Amino acid sequence: ATLGVAVIGTGRMGADHVRRLHEVTSGARVVAVADVDAERAKAVAARVDGCSAHTDPAAALAAADVDAVLIASPGPAHEATLLAAFERDLPVLCEKPLTPDAASALRVLEAELRLGHRRVQVGFMRRYDPEYAKLRALLTTGQLGRPLMLHNRHRNVASPPFFTSSMLISDSVAHEADVTRWLLGHEITAVTVLRPAPSANAPDGLRDPQFVVFETDGGALSDVEIFVNCGFGYQVQAEVVCERGTARIGDGHALVTNMAGRWGGTIAQDWTERFETAYDRQIQTWVDATRRGEVTGPSAWDGYAAAAVCEAGVRALEDGGRVEVELAEKPALYG
Ligand code: NAI
Repeated sequence: ATLGVAVIGTGRMGADHVRRLHEVTSGARVVAVADVDAERAKAVAARVDGCSAHTDPAAALAAADVDAVLIASPGPAHEATLLAAFERDLPVLCEKPLTPDAASALRVLEAELRLGHRRVQVGFMRRYDPEYAKLRALLTTGQLGRPLMLHNRHRNVASPPFFTSSMLISDSVAHEADVTRWLLGHEITAVTVLRPAPSANAPDGLRDPQFVVFETDGGALSDVEIFVNCGFGYQVQAEVVCERGTARIGDGHALVTNMAGRWGGTIAQDWTERFETAYDRQIQTWVDATRRGEVTGPSAWDGYAAAAVCEAGVRALEDGGRVEVELAEKPALYG
């Protein structure tokens, strides 16, 4: 049967996911949406036949024909909706971050453990990007030997007005926390954040760029340049340095042009463009697995581990120096 989905939060990501479920994904339909902004919820619901609009997420979960939930509200609102979904034993795709800090992420993990089965997939969509998937497939063949270092670059054109220095870690580098754990198959054990003099193009007081170094339990280093006011484009790159070679993605060389004494290409301006395929594949994979009664993809444990890494990263940013990541024991449910 077609999967009836309630979408919670109809802002930039939520509205795009509603469009995706409606127009791109097969096997699903949006039956309810919720947003604290009633007008926004109504406007998005009006684009889909038979979709009801709510201001209370709990009311959307209780609507007729809801089989699953997609959470795209801001991070601090995720926990309440996750717990409400667990009460109804509904499968959930939750946008990153699972929750904004390790303690709340652990509460979600423990609530899922009480259900006794996995219900959550976290929206770390880079795992569904064809380039990242190729890089991971190559690493798992072992041809290059053991990974020693991972170099990541994460650049945005400009940061939104509400963006704070710690959000460079908790909102942006959260993706590299997951990418590092997933590509290397290691847990991150310590975080150091170095801070060059801020760019003149960064808003006053914003520590931008930052240079983050993760240490892993497999003895690897993963560094991240995060620069959210680079001005020229949205760029996400990764290079793995292994014992017998290196591999790199994100150069965006899909189209190279030659003209009047120049060569070059274009640079994506935001994530919706760069990761469109990843979002499409993430949602389709989630819908397919959910219809089979399975939960695949990044788990609540992955969401918790990323939250713990980011919390250590924010402390490293504020206090300077190296901060160790404290992780709870990994429950058997998460393999
Ligand atoms: P946004 O601010 O555009 O949209 C959030 C919406 O949620 C707003 O319409 C707001 O009124 C509504 N809202 C606020 N509190 C709510 C509540 N308690 N219940 C229901 N609705 C509520 O934010 P955006 O950029 O769409 O981000 C949403 C989520 O998606 C965040 O978790 C963010 O981290 C994540 N995100 C993920 C990206 C990715 O690449 N995977 C990229 C950008 C955002």
